[in-house]
Amino acid sequence: MNSPSQTTPSPETSAGDIQQETVLVLDFGSQTAQLIARRVRDQNVFCQLVRHDLSAERIKELAPKGLILSGGPASVYAENAPQVDPEIFNLGIPVLGICYGMQAECRAMGCEVKPSQSREFGHTEMTCDADDPLFRGLPENFTVWMSHGDRVENLDESFVVLAETDDCPNAAIKHKDRPIYGLQFHPEVTHTQHGEHLLGNFIRNICGCEGSWKISSFIEQEVDSIRERVGQSRVICGLSGGVDSSVTAALLYKALGSQLTCIFVDNGLLRKGEREQVEYEFGEHFKTDLHVVDARDRFLEALAGVTDPQKKRKIIGKTFIDVFKDESAGIENAHFLAQGTLYPDVIESGANPDGPAATIKYHHNVGGLPEQLGFELIEPMRMLFKDEVRLMGHELGLPEKLIWRHPFPGPGLAVRCLGEITHDRLETLREADAVLIEELYDSDYYHKVQQAFAVLLPLQTVGVMGDARTYEDVIAIRSVDTDNFMTADWSRLPYDLLQRVSTRIINSVRGVNRVVYDISSKPPSTIEWE
Ligand code: XMP
Repeated sequence: MNSPSQTTPSPETSAGDIQQETVLVLDFGSQTAQLIARRVRDQNVFCQLVRHDLSAERIKELAPKGLILSGGPASVYAENAPQVDPEIFNLGIPVLGICYGMQAECRAMGCEVKPSQSREFGHTEMTCDADDPLFRGLPENFTVWMSHGDRVENLDESFVVLAETDDCPNAAIKHKDRPIYGLQFHPEVTHTQHGEHLLGNFIRNICGCEGSWKISSFIEQEVDSIRERVGQSRVICGLSGGVDSSVTAALLYKALGSQLTCIFVDNGLLRKGEREQVEYEFGEHFKTDLHVVDARDRFLEALAGVTDPQKKRKIIGKTFIDVFKDESAGIENAHFLAQGTLYPDVIESGANPDGPAATIKYHHNVGGLPEQLGFELIEPMRMLFKDEVRLMGHELGLPEKLIWRHPFPGPGLAVRCLGEITHDRLETLREADAVLIEELYDSDYYHKVQQAFAVLLPLQTVGVMGDARTYEDVIAIRSVDTDNFMTADWSRLPYDLLQRVSTRIINSVRGVNRVVYDISSKPPSTIEWE
């Protein structure tokens, strides 16, 4: 994040980084650190995650309106436990420590933190001082969510207690003279009653934020910054048909109009109607300079005879780069390539020097495309969470159907067409998948599940057709309920819906005589079959 005067654009900087009213979350490794940032943004205040040990000097430069210290898995008295720069408490910036963050805060300020007699976990009744600005407008008693083994014991006399539970005498505390608060519970999770109100109180009553950050103003800001950075140059945007690249393209079109070229590669591994939808949205609705590259044969040839899933992925990645390179080589005056990178990717990749360290994460997609092609990168979504991207898509006039589309892997139907990939097998899969998706829409289940698709198995099974035995293909149906795609449960779709899907597929998709429903959860299974 830069101050408003430092607007020199660079690949690391976008207008999203430059916000007047920001709250920083110091990340101590809690699983809910990103959630805290989302909750702050719900209050219309921009929020970023930064490293837990960001120096007070750097924080002063960034001039946030408030700091939130997240929870974390460590114990503050353990060796090498993450600590906070104690100087941050002398900056005059309001601080809210949550769980581990509160303990780190208290420890840095000289209080004692000890293991509790009992680990406190789950819903707990709390009594608070409802007169304090932090609890203003809240009842005296409500339920909070606790998850801690340590707790603050001997509070320094510079702190006062604002709330307690049966097991935790210091459930909420505040410094007597400085705007420094601590909560032993987690206000960011939905299990805590009034959590949103409480965070709102911190942000408005204590940090003094007005709350003017809105997606519409973010769009205006991004548009200005893109124009300034790009000048007269042309920008290429690779469209996949998914939400992230579509919103990126729509935003770039707003900023640059005819200076934008979109490249959509038809690799033959798309779902039914996908190419037509992109052609309509970005060729007719948004009149971008749309290049649809028909590379179906090239991909099919490269994949011929390959059954190993990792090999398939590699071939698809490489072929994509080759095709993209060929197409972009013919586009004059193009110096920039746009990508729909989102904030969680930026956080998890450790790309931001002020941000938390990289977390180990399996990256599905081919990286490094811009560098390989010699372009500068534009990532206008790099400060946004997924639901904010959807909101932006909505503001920019993209259709709801596209905005709420289920995720679709980069290698497309290749990971769902098990065994050899041929034109005919892809057709079978595409048709079966289209039946499933149509039935989900018609029964209003498409939006109730997070991802659903058909898989073509690499085996044939026996069936009867009239008096004759048949050996034909098997289609598996996968549908999952999930919050984050890291874990997932199979969707309890109604039997009559499953029955319609099965009957229609068997009746209308040539060469299929059996449909099965996948009832495995992730873990141990994954969502895709490969
Ligand atoms: P798994 O199968 O690992 O999938 O449980 C988790 C989520 O990731 C998607 N996925 C991919 N996305 N390229 C992508 O862009 C890929 O190669 C890829 N493989 C899996 C999957 O669809 C699910 O949403």
